[in-house]
Amino acid sequence: MAQRLFNVEGVRLACEDAGSGPPIVLLHGFPLDHTMWDAQVKELQSHFRVIAPDLRGFGASQLAEDDAENGVGMERYAADVIGLLDWLQVSEPVVLAGLSMGGYIAWQVALRWPDRIRGLIPCDTRATADADEPRAARFKMAEAAMQAGNSSPALVMIPKLLGAETREQRPEVEAKLRAMIERQSAEAVAAAQRGMARREDVRGKLDAITADSLCIVGVEDVISPPAEMHEFAVLLAKSGHDDVALVEIDHSGHMTPMENPAAFTAAVAAFAKKCYQL
Ligand code: MLT
Repeated sequence: MAQRLFNVEGVRLACEDAGSGPPIVLLHGFPLDHTMWDAQVKELQSHFRVIAPDLRGFGASQLAEDDAENGVGMERYAADVIGLLDWLQVSEPVVLAGLSMGGYIAWQVALRWPDRIRGLIPCDTRATADADEPRAARFKMAEAAMQAGNSSPALVMIPKLLGAETREQRPEVEAKLRAMIERQSAEAVAAAQRGMARREDVRGKLDAITADSLCIVGVEDVISPPAEMHEFAVLLAKSGHDDVALVEIDHSGHMTPMENPAAFTAAVAAFAKKCYQL
C-alpha cells in the first residue's frame, strides 16, 4: 500500500492513496489511524481510488505546535481533508465515510464544503455534542495521556469499541486494535479529546446536507447505538432523496470495518456505485 506525505499550512500529514477510479475517502476513529481501514483499502481499490488519511497527530501525521494543548477542532481536521483533496488534485465530489470521530469530521466537511461531497457515509457516529460528564472525562483522559507520555489511558476504551462476540471469538481483531491505540502519541490523544469535547451538536443542520447518505452501525455498538443513529438517519433523509438509509452490521460493535469487514465493505461499495452511477 502506498503512503503519501503532504503539507497543510506547514504540518506534515500522511495518507494512503490506493487504486484508481472514482474517489472514496475514509476517515478513521479515535484514537486510531488509517490502518483500521486495511480491509476496505484492499477490497475497494479494484473499483475506486481509496484515500485514507492519518488524521492530524495520528499515525504518520504530525500536529502543529499548540494542537495538543489547545485541542484540534473538528473544523480543523475537516480543513485538513480538503487540503488533502486539493493536494491530490481531486476536484470532483467524493464519497466520504467517517467512523465515529471520523464521522464528526465528515459532518463538518459536508456542511462547510457541500460541493466536495457526492455521498456521505456516517459510520458508528453521533450528531450530538457531549453531555457534561463525558466532556469532563475527555479532558481527564487528555491530561492523563500527557502525564503518562503515551496513549495508555485510552486503552480503557477497548471493551466499548468491540462487540462481545468479536472479543470472544476474534482475538486478532482486538490485538490489532490494541496495537493501533498503543502506537498513537499522548499529544494526538490530548489534541483529539480536547477537540471532540467542544464539538457542536449538528442535528439542527443536517437538513442542509443534500448529498445522498448511508448510515452504517454495528448491531452491538454501545458508543453510538443503532437507535441513536436511526434518529439522525431520519434527519438526513428528505424528500427528493432516498428514504432513511441505515445498514446494521451483524457480529459487530463500534468498529464495524474491522469486526465485520465483508459486510461493511459490501455496503460501502454498493452505495458508492450508486452514487457514481456505476
Ligand atoms: C471513536 O471511535 O472515534 C470514539 O469513540 C469517538 C468518541 O470518543 O466520541
